[in-house]
Amino acid sequence: MLNLNQPALGKANGKIILMGEHSVVYGEPAIAIPFPATHIHATITPIEGPVQLDCVYYQGDLASAPQHLENLIAVVESTLNELKQEFNNFKLTIESTIPVERGMGSSAAVAIATVRAVFNYYSVPLTDDKLLTLANISETIAHGNPSGLDAAMTSGRHPLYYIKGKPFVPFKVSLSAYLIVADTGLKGQTRDAVASIAQLNKEDTETTMDAIHGLGDLARQAKFAIESANPVTLGLVMNEAHETLSSLGVSNERLNHLVSTARTNGALGAKLTGGGRGGCMIALAADKDTAASISNALVDAGAVNTWTHQLGDESVE
Ligand code: MEV
Repeated sequence: MLNLNQPALGKANGKIILMGEHSVVYGEPAIAIPFPATHIHATITPIEGPVQLDCVYYQGDLASAPQHLENLIAVVESTLNELKQEFNNFKLTIESTIPVERGMGSSAAVAIATVRAVFNYYSVPLTDDKLLTLANISETIAHGNPSGLDAAMTSGRHPLYYIKGKPFVPFKVSLSAYLIVADTGLKGQTRDAVASIAQLNKEDTETTMDAIHGLGDLARQAKFAIESANPVTLGLVMNEAHETLSSLGVSNERLNHLVSTARTNGALGAKLTGGGRGGCMIALAADKDTAASISNALVDAGAVNTWTHQLGDESVE
């Protein structure tokens, strides 16, 4: 029998990690912002028969990211389990403008939007704790050992100063500066990047943990630079973080090329963002005109897409 529920919507946004990727997995702080320029809408409509999935992704990305589909099925199943419902009688449509496997939180955002849509569909109230628990089930499949930052960020409305396992601290990133995000066009599996650092840590714990603690210190310095309205220091700290992340093996040639292009075109600082090994980089610019010329230079240097974001403008609908 056809389910009589009304169509239901769930939303989530992309995210950018300003500082602290990878070290956040080891308990160091990270600073991240919601990135509403990229988002996901999950819509559920009633149909008869087993659940159907229909995904419309950024640049047709899904076709080359089968892992993503597995995560999506896992999150639908665990959400239906939680609600004691069968895997039947609706179609889930995912419309996403978040690049897949580029460090912008696509897997977490799909999970967040889907859990929200399914709960809405069955008119069951959803607490933040339940939302994050369910989303992190699929994040564990996607990332192996997620810090929880991506789920927190893609579900949230505010920038966060995030420490794994601690209450979220909303953090106003109100600097007079612009962030340029550039997509290398290369997919980078966060799971592999996280696992490669875990392996380094096994082989040489002292050097790896020095680098991880160094990244934590840089995130704390970045927090101070933001609070004291000092974009120049923030840029320097971002540059240092990129070098440390490179030393941990999670950058690559394309990212390094875009990072140095941004720096030679007036960026105050630049670094990879997210899991790395492909994906996106970010650059900090003091003003709108410099941001525009950095963005043009990044496209000339091979970025497949860029987004420019005014810091402090993280309002999410
Ligand atoms: C991925 O967006 C961020 C990482 O720090 C992994 C995590 O926090 O789970 C690389």
